[in-house]
Amino acid sequence: MSGKGKREDDLLDFVRRFADRGTFTVEEELGHGYVRLRITEAERRQALQDIRSVEDVVKELVRNARDAGAREIYVSFQKERGRWRNITVLDNGAGIPEPLHRKIFEARVTSKVDGVVEDAFGVHGRGMALFSIKQVAEDIRLVDSVEGRGTVILARLDTQKVPEKKDQSTFPWLEKGEEGVLTVTGGPRNVPRVLAEYALDRQDVEIYLGSNAEVLATLYHRSQMLRKDWAAGGMREGKPLWFDLGGINEGKSLHRFALERLGLSVSERNAFRILEYEIAPLMSVNELLDEQGCKSPPRRSDLHRQPRMTWTDHLSRRLCQDDLDRISASLTHLLNEIGERHLLCMEPPVIKRRKNRIIISLALHEKEDED
Ligand SMILES: Nc1ncnc2c1ncn2[C@@H]1O[C@H](COP(=O)(O)OP(=O)(O)OP(=O)(O)O)[C@@H](O)[C@H]1O
Ligand SMILES: [Mg+2]
Repeated sequence: MSGKGKREDDLLDFVRRFADRGTFTVEEELGHGYVRLRITEAERRQALQDIRSVEDVVKELVRNARDAGAREIYVSFQKERGRWRNITVLDNGAGIPEPLHRKIFEARVTSKVDGVVEDAFGVHGRGMALFSIKQVAEDIRLVDSVEGRGTVILARLDTQKVPEKKDQSTFPWLEKGEEGVLTVTGGPRNVPRVLAEYALDRQDVEIYLGSNAEVLATLYHRSQMLRKDWAAGGMREGKPLWFDLGGINEGKSLHRFALERLGLSVSERNAFRILEYEIAPLMSVNELLDEQGCKSPPRRSDLHRQPRMTWTDHLSRRLCQDDLDRISASLTHLLNEIGERHLLCMEPPVIKRRKNRIIISLALHEKEDED
């Protein structure tokens, strides 16, 4: 189709959506500000067609979080056996009242009844996105949602049925326009691009992208900061669903909390590594684009850059693995020498970082006769 033809088509589609929206009527009041709309068959079909790729799914889930007034949106984006794409979106928005938890996945159920909702991504509010995703996904479910605290939604897609762009690592090209405003000028239409567009559109909504373990590490640190604020009498808004995370100090419990309450499947080993500060929290997509935007297209791995010191003031975090290896090497040397005198031998030291200290443990053995 020619550029002009495509533009006219887009325009017609836009006008049609507006017009149709005008004729929407409420079929059923569901309470708590939710309704079931009556919409035309054409609208229903259009909505189903809107979900054709993994990128479309992420776009709709993040848009819902944003419409719910979230200030932080975490997207965990993890591939399984090269085929299944697991997506968990966590937000600290308005949440969904309990009686609606199942209904939101039915067709035409929406809370966006006060007229058309329009953003940089078009007109919406038909109560169709979650229903449409459900038709094509292997699984979609509400892990948890509490009014005033936020929502966690998990989707699992088979990329052989719902495809995705091959390159999910490169962020789009950006250009600085008038008044320093960054805009997307190219790059693959992948999930980083969907999130970059949201991040550039609204600076007051921080968006994060990572694996389950990276998102969990980020939420863990975030929660520690919030808990500190809370204890100091600072934050008195709703506690997000990850608020209790920071109080956990044992790998098994962190693993279980992540799986059951946050829809993040993280091995016990990785949960333990998060407690040990071996998996660093992510920087937000907003921060990354701000810093690196126009120099060269950032990559997902740039989100792992050492976070700001304000993430946590735990002193042991300043020691990196290299430092720990050096401590271990000198101790081993010293201990071998001392062990000689007492007929003891020692296993290599195990060093753990814990908040403002490091814990060194040394297992001792009787020295075997060397004959
Ligand atoms: N993350 C979320 N936080 C709070 N409410 C949500 C969230 N996700 C979905 N909802 C609720 O579920 C309803 C249905 O969502 P769904 O995406 O299916 O439809 P919609 O957003 O109303 O319209 P559209 O079909 O254009 O997306 C929303 O209207 C909203 O009330
Ligand atoms: Mg929606």
